[in-house]
Amino acid sequence: MLVFPPQEGAEMTIGFFFCIDLRSFLLRVLGLNDNTSEKNITHNSIFCYSNPMITLGIETSCDETALCLLETKGEYPALEYRVLSHIIHSQAEMHSKYGGVFPMMAKREHAKRLAPLLEQVIKESKIETGSFEASRADLENIKKICGEHDDDLYHSIIGSSLIKVRPAIDRIAVTAGPGLEPALWVGINFANALASLWKVPESGVNHMEGHIVASLLPKTETKYAFESLIECSFPAIAFLISGGHTEIIYIKEIGDYKVQGATRDDAIGEAFDKVARMLGLPYPGGPEISKLAEMKREEVKIQKTKVEGKEIRSGAIGRDRGSLMSATARVGEIFQQKNVRAPETLPSRSLDINQRITLPRPMINTDTLDMSFAGLKTAVLYELRKHEKIDEPLKKEMAREFEDAVTDVIIAKLERAFDAHEANTLIVGGGVLANKHILEACKAFALRRTITFLPPAVGLSGDNALMIAMASAINGKNQASEITAQGNLSL
Ligand code: KG4
Ligand code: ZN
Repeated sequence: MLVFPPQEGAEMTIGFFFCIDLRSFLLRVLGLNDNTSEKNITHNSIFCYSNPMITLGIETSCDETALCLLETKGEYPALEYRVLSHIIHSQAEMHSKYGGVFPMMAKREHAKRLAPLLEQVIKESKIETGSFEASRADLENIKKICGEHDDDLYHSIIGSSLIKVRPAIDRIAVTAGPGLEPALWVGINFANALASLWKVPESGVNHMEGHIVASLLPKTETKYAFESLIECSFPAIAFLISGGHTEIIYIKEIGDYKVQGATRDDAIGEAFDKVARMLGLPYPGGPEISKLAEMKREEVKIQKTKVEGKEIRSGAIGRDRGSLMSATARVGEIFQQKNVRAPETLPSRSLDINQRITLPRPMINTDTLDMSFAGLKTAVLYELRKHEKIDEPLKKEMAREFEDAVTDVIIAKLERAFDAHEANTLIVGGGVLANKHILEACKAFALRRTITFLPPAVGLSGDNALMIAMASAINGKNQASEITAQGNLSL
């Protein structure tokens, strides 16, 4: 993700304590509104969830406004679930005009969208709703929660049906971090407002735990019978690759995480976006680069088929075969010169007889699980400067070589991680996993090491609220009586 620094001053709202006391809990069960309660008594000791229970998930950490209603019963690992409704509204088109995400712009867009999207999610889920009327005190409370910086959110809530209906929601789970703080705060304020209005408990969820949990869901479509989660054999190692994060995590069990390595500068998604920008491609750049890289791979395959066809016809080792062999040797040499261990498999590159560009694989051989991608991005810039014109063939070649360089580093770090830790499963997650080449390379790695491979569920590699609701349902530890936005929250 390419993020521009906030232009307006940091807009923060005070975190509030929203809890459920026994009285309001009973009133809620009876479907009555507790207008007199101050709602500031801790809930986690006395609140008992219904079973099955419905969790509202809210995700606004970056440029996706996502909401979900998830029904669960039982406890992890025996937990069963079904998705009642699930929506992701991407702001990518809006940000693409500027080539990256402006946090304050993202925040304003979330503020406008959250209430209408929630109305839609409630309607689609067909969950029970009871009518009620928000009191003046409720509305004042919502105003206080939204504060002067979230006026858009306040107006959007009070102009919606959310103040007139009470859906049968048992819990609200909201992303607390990591992410863009102004964007996180809108989601949290929205959750706080609803929790106070409907008197339900809330939990703050770590976005990265959400990306881990996204690999445990066999089904993500709505309207099906209850489903069990995928059984994960722990310990596991998770490689999370998104626009804001690139982390390797050792997972002893759900809730017990240790970060083993992370990028020291740019996240991989961020590097994709920045390189795309250099190539004049729109934001988000990841999908654009992967499209071009794919095209290049196809071209090389066709080229290879032609060369092999010629060889068979002539029955001799022709000039092209010589070129192919020297191209392979050249790549090996380059790796030697750069003091970089050539990765085991370089199928497309070694067959590309016309390859002009070889990028470095930063930190590929360093004895750490940390990574660095800022230098790779700079190497792209220097390579581009050598060319008068950034034409289509150059863009494709650069995209393919960049994708290969990133993939080589990922696989080398995975080798190192699994050498250092006994682990049975590889979990991968984050928006960059939409990249077929990277996903396939990770899958091939797992196959080679005979470990179980858990990729993100279909449609859940990017940011979504289903993973947030599920993380909260699985890991009860992340309950919070006060939720604050934590841009750098770690696992
Ligand atoms: O996880 P995510 O949706 O949001 C964050 O939490 O950051 O990840 C978004 C990132 C963006 O940087 C985007 O360019 C990248 O994922 N991305 C891709 C692909 N699709 C999305 N990167 C490489 N190849 C893709 N196909
Ligand atoms: Zn993410």
